[in-house]
Amino acid sequence: MSRPILEVKGLKKNFQVKSRKALFAKPTSVQVLNDISFELREGETLSIVGESGCGKTTLGRCIVRGMSASSGEVIYHAPGGETVDYLKLNGAASKKFRKDIQMIFQDPYSSLSPRMSVFNIISEPLIANFKLSRREVEEKVSSIAMQTGLNVSYLRRYPHAFSGGQRQRIAIARALVTQPRLIVCDEAVSALDVSIQAQIINLLKDLQQEFKITYIFISHDLSIVENISDRVAVMHLGRVVELASVESMFRQPRHPYTEALLSAVPQPDPELKKNRIILEGEVPNPANPPSGCHFHPRCAYRTEKCVKESPALREIGNQHYAACHYAEELTLRSARNEPRTEEGH
Ligand SMILES: Nc1ncnc2c1ncn2[C@@H]1O[C@H](COP(=O)(O)OP(=O)(O)O)[C@@H](O)[C@H]1O
Ligand SMILES: [Mg+2]
Repeated sequence: MSRPILEVKGLKKNFQVKSRKALFAKPTSVQVLNDISFELREGETLSIVGESGCGKTTLGRCIVRGMSASSGEVIYHAPGGETVDYLKLNGAASKKFRKDIQMIFQDPYSSLSPRMSVFNIISEPLIANFKLSRREVEEKVSSIAMQTGLNVSYLRRYPHAFSGGQRQRIAIARALVTQPRLIVCDEAVSALDVSIQAQIINLLKDLQQEFKITYIFISHDLSIVENISDRVAVMHLGRVVELASVESMFRQPRHPYTEALLSAVPQPDPELKKNRIILEGEVPNPANPPSGCHFHPRCAYRTEKCVKESPALREIGNQHYAACHYAEELTLRSARNEPRTEEGH
């Protein structure tokens, strides 16, 4: 196994939220990330999945320091063997290491400045982080543009002249130009057509091979992540509720929430399609989370214990972690199109 590149330890994020109804009420604190911990290995892709609002973007932003975490640590293992808390970097260490982690956002229409040429968009982080001559900048931008499949003769144009897929290539080129070791891709392909999605995913994979990049790949859509991930973390209401290798997660999910998410993944077999689990009720509100296990109001397997006690994330076997009181006992449906032995299949 390769060595760790990042250790996220006990990350928490609270937002101060003012009630819209009570104009003069004090803001209340809403916990959006609740004690998130995981380790990333160099060169792997860890996907973070879960319904909209579960805290994926907040987690990504806290890691890259696009927003400050309320508490917790993000230990970064630098190439020379040095380890630093990325969230506390300042001064020279900040200059040295901040560029090593970059983020790509969902919307290729709003994440690129419309007033900057593509050349300026891509070169901006390069100029901010390195002392380079104009020629060196031009060389590096051309080279990264070619590697990301952009036409070098279009670099003087502005983002509006490009399609969604091309814009996402520009965003990837900008993220890559400082040669980061880790990229957080937040729904990087979700806004794109399916055929373009596949092209961008293949590009990300090729770049990963070439530059040994580690990815945190955020997506609300489990069907996309199967193809790109080594491991998957399932988030529910600010917590990781399941974490496993992609094979283990898809073959044998251990959390009822994952079972439901997997059942929504499109299947070529129509028999499996019929088995889609419809989660009843609304996504719970982080300002007023349910008691016990936060998933219990929507869980078909809940018992009294689930209403009262919050299950901790624990290892069920061979690097497969789940936060469910009954993770060992439940036989959950997998996403695999495997021959069934039960009656009727
Ligand atoms: N700046 C903010 N102020 C208050 N609440 C926020 C803010 N940003 C996000 N939230 C809340 O945090 C929760 C998680 O949001 P987010 O991280 O965007 O989820 P996801 O990316 O999984 O859809 C949501 O309930 C959202 O309303
Ligand atoms: Mg998001």
